[in-house]
Amino acid sequence: MLNNKRKKSSELRSHRWFGPQSLRAFGHRSRTLQMGFSRKDYEGKPVIGILNTWSELSHCHSHFRERAQDVKRGVWQAGGFPVEIPVMSLAEVYQKPTTMMYRNLLSMEVEEILRSYPIDGCVLMGGCDKTPPGLLMGALSMGLPSIFVPAGPMLRGNWHGKTLGSGSDVWKYWDELRAGNITEDDWQDIEEGIARSVGTCMTMGTAATMTSIVETLGFSLPNASTIPAPDSNHPRMASDSGRRIVDMVWEDLTPKDILTWPSIENAVRVLMALGGSTNALIHLIAIAKRAGFSMPLELFEQLGKSTPYLVNMRPSGEYLMEDFHYAGGLAALLQEMRPLLHCDALTCTGKSLGENIERFKIFNHEVIKPLGQPILAEGGLIILKGNLAPNGAVIKTSAATPALLNHRGKAIVFDDYNDMERQLDDPDLDVDESSILVLRNSGPQGGPGMPEWGMLPIPKKLVQKGVRDMVRISDARMSGTSYGTCVLHVSPESWVGGPLALVKTGDVIELNVTNREINVLISDEEMEARRQTWSPKIRKFKRGYGQLFTEHVQQAHEGCDFDFLSSDAATDDPEIH
Ligand code: FES
Repeated sequence: MLNNKRKKSSELRSHRWFGPQSLRAFGHRSRTLQMGFSRKDYEGKPVIGILNTWSELSHCHSHFRERAQDVKRGVWQAGGFPVEIPVMSLAEVYQKPTTMMYRNLLSMEVEEILRSYPIDGCVLMGGCDKTPPGLLMGALSMGLPSIFVPAGPMLRGNWHGKTLGSGSDVWKYWDELRAGNITEDDWQDIEEGIARSVGTCMTMGTAATMTSIVETLGFSLPNASTIPAPDSNHPRMASDSGRRIVDMVWEDLTPKDILTWPSIENAVRVLMALGGSTNALIHLIAIAKRAGFSMPLELFEQLGKSTPYLVNMRPSGEYLMEDFHYAGGLAALLQEMRPLLHCDALTCTGKSLGENIERFKIFNHEVIKPLGQPILAEGGLIILKGNLAPNGAVIKTSAATPALLNHRGKAIVFDDYNDMERQLDDPDLDVDESSILVLRNSGPQGGPGMPEWGMLPIPKKLVQKGVRDMVRISDARMSGTSYGTCVLHVSPESWVGGPLALVKTGDVIELNVTNREINVLISDEEMEARRQTWSPKIRKFKRGYGQLFTEHVQQAHEGCDFDFLSSDAATDDPEIH
């Protein structure tokens, strides 16, 4: 139910800065006038912070300076006072060791900016993988009315008339290059054709998954998440969001009114129907915790069993985000899934999810399958447990080779990424297609930040023989655009002494997806004996943010948030002195 509250100007949070006849308020007003604004621009109006993750290294958000102007147009029209504030950009491919290391830092920045400035409501501008969760986690913790403007997917890639998909086709053609099936010139043409416009990855990677989830949770306008970034509908959606946030402030519609247990369940079901990124598990757990909800991994398993996989998109399927939008978009998918969803969940429109999606329908059933004719009867993400992963691991079965889902093989263990790079293409490496590749020390603390190393490359000599998939196990994540039989997020991670630390090359590992198990076939006694000889590694960071990160980051099954942020405790609103 929408709040029936309607604020007065004197009840605005920003009024505490601008309203009083005090020495400090004099300073706040005079400095606003200093910027060229008149009193009519801001007096009695909601101050809307437009939190913009644009930077010249943020390749997926390079249209965000223009989009911020579109948002502002909407805010002005609706009677608000827009202020654009840059926040940390997390550019997926540039930032090392991984953007995941900085998701929590972005969330802290968002919370603290909203807390410390005279802001009444905010527009969160993000899209590239870690920005949707980072922005939303911070906004949830601060609790001011918030709306999310997704960056939108880029256009389809093109190479010699063939469609290219972000990430997925990079891995695919890299193997073809290594196998000698394409030339260096082909590879260069692919490089020039795979990212043809502004916007986020257009496969069902982490950006597409997370923006769809944020919309399903209720934080974006209907169908916002699938509009291609260069489409003229995109700036119109941005200005609509600017208009809407002003009303959200007057209505006092806060993130915790929107993020409820039913909306969380809706998000899990949509993740399954999309065949979405494994990264979403970690982000959803962290987001939910900021609103006071604990999400066990079993919830994904439980809802996944009764949620079919419906959206035929790469890397699990065939199509791309442009096709998804033209087929009706996320709202059409939600309409199809109506019997599975809590349609009374409140959203940023002030209406229920069910009301928002009423007018949408599917135009192409090749892309969005009917509920009764799914691609798979169950969601494509499976949770595994066993003596290798007592606290859980995940496998994306929709993007795996069915014949490898129940498989026994000898482990080849790489102690870290450098060790893997050294050994992988060694012609003397004792490996065949039945082997299981194991990468450790790539988890939340070991990576650090769980880099997307979980789709380990296939050894060159096997690629040349035509092998394109093997069972791979790690405590890393993998890109949402990746594919293959990859067991990921093994928890607890090896860096802190999880069982992956104790596996040796030559051990037999059994993956049994039917029984939801992942085990190394050694006795408990042998495991314990190995544990006695294991010793922790030296911390990688001795100062600064790295040290803060490794001392406070939680494990994958807990969402990788910082222990001191991971709750719904109310943030302190500052006194104005
Ligand atoms: Fe930005 Fe994929 S690199 S969304």
